[in-house]
Amino acid sequence: RQARLTLDPGFAVGEVDPRLFGSFVEHMGRCVYTGIYEPGHPAADEDGFRADVLELVRELGVTVVRYPGGNFVSGYRWEDGVGPRGERPSRFDLAWRQIETNEFGLNEFMTWSRKAGVAPMMAVNLGTRGVREAADLVEYCNFPGGTALSDLRAKHGHPEPHGVSLWCLGNELDGPWQTGHKTAHEYGRLANETAKAMRMVDPSIELVACGSSNSGMPTFGSWEATVLEHTYDNVDYVSLHAYYEEHDGDLGSFLASAVDMDHFIGSVVATCDHVGAKLRNRKRIRLSFDEWNVWYMGRFVGEKNLAAERVPRLIEDNYHVADAVVVGSLLITLLRHADRVGVACQAQLANVIAPILTEPGGGSCRQTIFFPFAHAARHARGRVLRVEPDSPRYDTARFGDVPLLEAVATQDGDEVVLFAVNRSVEDSLALTANVRALPGLSVVEHVVLASDDRTLTNTVAEPDRVLPRRVDGASVVDGELTAELPALSWNMIRLS
Ligand code: AHR
Repeated sequence: RQARLTLDPGFAVGEVDPRLFGSFVEHMGRCVYTGIYEPGHPAADEDGFRADVLELVRELGVTVVRYPGGNFVSGYRWEDGVGPRGERPSRFDLAWRQIETNEFGLNEFMTWSRKAGVAPMMAVNLGTRGVREAADLVEYCNFPGGTALSDLRAKHGHPEPHGVSLWCLGNELDGPWQTGHKTAHEYGRLANETAKAMRMVDPSIELVACGSSNSGMPTFGSWEATVLEHTYDNVDYVSLHAYYEEHDGDLGSFLASAVDMDHFIGSVVATCDHVGAKLRNRKRIRLSFDEWNVWYMGRFVGEKNLAAERVPRLIEDNYHVADAVVVGSLLITLLRHADRVGVACQAQLANVIAPILTEPGGGSCRQTIFFPFAHAARHARGRVLRVEPDSPRYDTARFGDVPLLEAVATQDGDEVVLFAVNRSVEDSLALTANVRALPGLSVVEHVVLASDDRTLTNTVAEPDRVLPRRVDGASVVDGELTAELPALSWNMIRLS
């Protein structure tokens, strides 16, 4: 089967914001404890951080990490996690019914972020708390010194401000499951007043208002519109969250999940611009897709009667090849919207629906979904190019007619990279790309993630069952790139 596209620097969507390659660390399950932090582990460094995990995080290419939740943040008191460890309280976490010892808190996260080479993105609690506590947190983190809270930070061993520039105004407050769930008006008013106060402490910060928890929420669309009517002047981003899974063995629809993400992004952009027009405001609100991934939530429903434990194994999905192909297509979709999506965080980073798996006291491994993320984070640079694919299509139960090929390209000087997914389970795609507008290009490498067995996963015991491989055959002749995209595959073709 044949597919065509065009690489032309004249068709630029926008610049790649490195913050599209963000991740998320929540106090949930084993993301923090025995994930990124495990004192006593043979690979633990002097701060108790797992060095094997730090190395994988660097290899993954994560740029920004959202913290400390998620649903967790809506009951969190940030003060519990600072100061001498022996004086920190153990608390019952309402979101996940876990015992939170607060052994790992704000300053540990900042130190970990520096070691991992990522920028922190903090969320404030607007579920059970409000304006005062959020402004205090900004003061503790960012104020240079000479105030009670900035001096307290220094006393806690951090004289230099943490300089956190990106802040989430709560989490999923449209969701009835959220501790402190609110109506759009209640949240919009609170978010706006909190944003103002936080900016009074540090005028340089960027702020994300909560959009809907997912596009299936009954209030989707009206939630965003109402919240933005309250907050438009004082926020920079609105958030989107989406998780995808295969329902009832419908692989075709699952592989087309990016169609839903694309529509979701388009709808939120339209809503932001509608509010902007109504308010006669020329400012453009950007999108923070600060939770996205494959999550087999259906399985979680069975686990949901959560026992009050310290470090339970929660939603530790083990991802197969088809999941990685879907993750690849979601990354492509985020890139295709680089003009409006400025931040995106894959949820989460370690163990909890994560690209990195660890065993307590044991090893760690890269899940299949690690690879498309690492490829895109490392090589998607410069400007995003629209490639206008012309592809055979297939029929899906959920999204109708969907193209087999999903693709996008980036250009950074002489380096052009094509990212592509073939959704066909049976057939490879013979791809032809017109590259006449980019003379002199030749193929540097074609890397593929695919397998004859789409259900194959990596585990800590068997970490290398699914690995990307370099394939031969792609070439540029007379201004045409040709390449074979195997059935059900993620592909990165680098040209220079
Ligand atoms: O990432 C897991 C959970 O999913 C987060 O806590 C919440 O924000 C979302 O519903």
